Parts: sequence; C-alpha cells; structure tokens
Amino acid sequence: MPSRKRTDGVICVHADYEALSRAAAELFLRQAKEATEDHGRFSVALSGGSTPQRAYELLAGPPFNTQVDWGRVHVFWSDERCVPPNDPRSNARMAREKLLDHVPVPPGHVHPIACAGSAENAARSYESLLRSFFDGGPKSFDLVFLGLGTDGHTASLFPGTPALLEKDRWVTEIYSEKEAIHRVTLTAPILNQALVLAFIASGASKAVVLREVLTQRPGPERFPARLIKPDCYGGKLYWLVDKNSASLLET
Ligand code: 6PG
Repeated sequence: MPSRKRTDGVICVHADYEALSRAAAELFLRQAKEATEDHGRFSVALSGGSTPQRAYELLAGPPFNTQVDWGRVHVFWSDERCVPPNDPRSNARMAREKLLDHVPVPPGHVHPIACAGSAENAARSYESLLRSFFDGGPKSFDLVFLGLGTDGHTASLFPGTPALLEKDRWVTEIYSEKEAIHRVTLTAPILNQALVLAFIASGASKAVVLREVLTQRPGPERFPARLIKPDCYGGKLYWLVDKNSASLLET
C-alpha cells in the first residue's frame, strides 16, 4: 500500500473499498490499544455517511471485535442530522446498526448528539459534555473518522457556511437548506486537537474533490476539509483512500 507524506497528512492508497475499510478498522484497533495503554481510555468520534459503514461492520466481527477493550471505549460523533433517533438518516442509528449493537461498549460511554429538538441547545450541551470529558483540552479525541463530500465538506462543515469561521466553539449548529433539516457538527478547533484524524474516501466520485482538497490553493471556505490540520497540535492526519478515489492524484 503506497503512501506519501505531505504537509497535509499521509495519503494511504488501498486497492479497493474493502481494503480501505480494513485499514480503517486496523487504525481504530491500533489507536484503541495505544490510547488505552497510555491513558486508560479510547475516545473516538465516528463519521456519518456511507463510506465508514464497512469499517464499522468489520470492527463488529472477528478478528477485531475480540481485540478491542470495548469497556474502555468512549464513542462520540463528528456530526449528526437533527432527525428522530430511528430515522434512516441518523448517523447514530447507522453506527448502532453496523457496530455498537454488536459490541459491549458500556451504554454510558456512547454519546450521540441528540438534536431532534433544538439544534442550538443540542450543540451547546454536546460542547459542555466534550469540555468536561476532555477537561478543557488541549488534546481531544484519540481518533476521529471523517468523510469527504464531493463539495469538499467534512462532518457538517459545508462550503460557505459560518461554521467554517468558528474559532472558539467546539460544536455548532447549521441549517441544511438542501435537506431542510438542522445539523450539529464538531468544528475545526476541536477536530484539530485530535491525536489522530483519518479521512476515508472511496470511489471514483471522490477523485476530483480529493485532488482539489489535496492540491488546489483555494482556502477552506471552498473546501472545508482543508480546515483540518491537526499537525499544528502534534496530531496526525491520514487520508485513507482507494485506487478509484486517488485516481487523479499524481503518483
Ligand atoms: C454526514 C457526514 C458527512 C459525510 C460525507 C461523505 O453526516 O453526512 O458526516 O460529512 O461523511 O458527506 O459521505 P459519504 O461517505 O456517504 O460519501
């Protein structure tokens, strides 16, 4: 699996979606072991969307499910759509179906963003939960999985939205006109304090945006994913991609 170190992270190109998903599961396992040995717990923020689903399924079964100390795992989300918990659009529902209903993470360690009511209240209470969990920083999650939208968004940080300018709040709310729903999202300040962030992008539909995010100059207002720079805090950034999504990157 060729990889290249760049100022904006290590790009790991895998043969296909299955190999990419397995690599994401292996990263989760590695980080879980390291974090638990280092500070007795493993905090992870899960991404929504379709790409991470296979990685979550792999983690729910052998050999991964027997190697993770699930009792030490604390699960958060990078963002959530403000829909009822059983709505098929819910990121928490997807993670429960693919992973959390199949592994023994203590219920008190699973922190969904409950925002079917007021998105602003949900954002503020999620932020206070995070600030007390991380004791105000400077470090945040041991691992964050992030997807990449074809418009360059990540989490619910969409191009041209005020959330991109957020320098203080760790969690904020946005209204998605296209979906006619509110969303709640982590912001760059807390994401960039993670120890490890891993984008996962698969398929030919992500080839153009991946090349633009990794090589084009336009700033984060056009490609919010460019906001993600954990190395400023000593964090590591990985781009877990496959041959199809990496097809436009120079070799
Ligand atoms: C969401 C995700 C979002 C997603 C990207 C990529 O709640 O929708 O957080 O940022 O990761 O849109 O989605 P796919 O993996 O489905 O392409």
